Amino acid sequence: MKITKTRVAIVGAGPAGLLLSHLLHRAGIDSVVLESRSRQEIESTLRAGVLEQGTVDLLEKSGVGERLKREGFVHHGIYLRFRGESHRIPLTELTGGRSIMVYAQHEVIKDLVKARLDAGGRILFEVKDVALEGLDSTSPEVNFLWKNEKQQIQADFIAGCDGFHGISRPAIPAARRTEFKRNYPFGWFGILVEAPPATDELIYAHHERGFALISTRSPTIQRLYFQCDPKDEVGNWPDARIWEELHARLEGSDGWKVKEGRIFQKGIIAMRSFVVEPMNYRRLYLAGDAAHIVPPTGAKGLNLAINDVRILASALMDFYEKKSEAGLKSYSTTALKRVWRAENFSWWMTSMLHKFPEDSPFQHRIQLSELDYVVSSKAKALTLAENYVG
Ligand code: FAD
Ligand code: PHB
Repeated sequence: MKITKTRVAIVGAGPAGLLLSHLLHRAGIDSVVLESRSRQEIESTLRAGVLEQGTVDLLEKSGVGERLKREGFVHHGIYLRFRGESHRIPLTELTGGRSIMVYAQHEVIKDLVKARLDAGGRILFEVKDVALEGLDSTSPEVNFLWKNEKQQIQADFIAGCDGFHGISRPAIPAARRTEFKRNYPFGWFGILVEAPPATDELIYAHHERGFALISTRSPTIQRLYFQCDPKDEVGNWPDARIWEELHARLEGSDGWKVKEGRIFQKGIIAMRSFVVEPMNYRRLYLAGDAAHIVPPTGAKGLNLAINDVRILASALMDFYEKKSEAGLKSYSTTALKRVWRAENFSWWMTSMLHKFPEDSPFQHRIQLSELDYVVSSKAKALTLAENYVG
């Protein structure tokens, strides 16, 4: 068996794991990243699109923001659309100059993988049977199979950045973690379309047939979503049925129209809220989706993952540079504050905009009243804006 030593063993090459490895490298702290999928696969999986200003600032400050700056789209507002009319929430105006950037998550992944590999960083792709051992000791180990060879990494710390379905969270003894969860009785049907933008800013639409969202990827590729049954199948949705649903949910009396185009990708996403507390067990620290999930309505998941890693990297730097464990001791508490804020915001946006199976006409009116309030009260709009920009 091949044995490798490093300071931080990182499980998962998503945004959390890759950025952690990058930030540690910049501070002279060695790490190894283990990823179960191939590089090609992680660089092409479609997920998030909205980066908060703080996320953009951190990526730029740490030297991986060059392409993002060139190719990302800065947005200064979003639209809430209901009763067939759009209402703009001026994010920048309300938040004293803050904005968001639309730049796909897999582009962030490409930038981070390139930065790590160019700097000689170690990312092992397509590892199998990853198992964490010795978590009760001061030198935990990660055992795995790579290219049919059994390998072991001995580290000072393990960072569990392996997403919601990873092995890190379940490696914490059940008696030492508490899980908080809510599943939603709907999913999102997402499509990628070859078409010019139909709108200059994202549209979040409330409709009696269910929620719909228009986002973008480039001047020629648009990203659209609509609420669906989480158990539905892509095969049940030929293109014509998708467009019919989007026209019905998004168009109204104001003459604005959805722009059709060739649909070249379709997928269904489950929606859930989830938090584990605490976010660490001895020398195992969880970051990102491994520790928490939000429904995508608030566009927060990726940003939370980045925020966790910012806190964790700084705590590890203090440990190695100043021999201080204070940051590591407070990691979970500090990260969870921001996590629960995002949980609350994402749950609120989801509840306000989606159709719930048990909804009565009363509930529908309550949602419309809340939307009316958000677009007419500066205080309420500010609540949305400051949570949305982060
Ligand atoms: P992940 O990206 O899940 O990465 C985990 C990695 O670990 C994966 O590459 C996985 O292959 C690997 N892995 C898993 N198990 C193992 C194992 N045993 N061994 C080794 N490797 C393993 N967030 C936003 O902020 N804004 C948005 O606009 C937004 N939109 C979204 C839209 C959709 C459709 C979806 C699905 C999500 C969206 N999110 C959004 C959420 C965001 O994509 C996630 O929160 C983000 O990917 C979390 O990053 P992560 O690094 O924690 O986990
Ligand atoms: C996306 O562009 O994929 C996207 C945008 C906003 C969201 C979720 C996803 O709230």
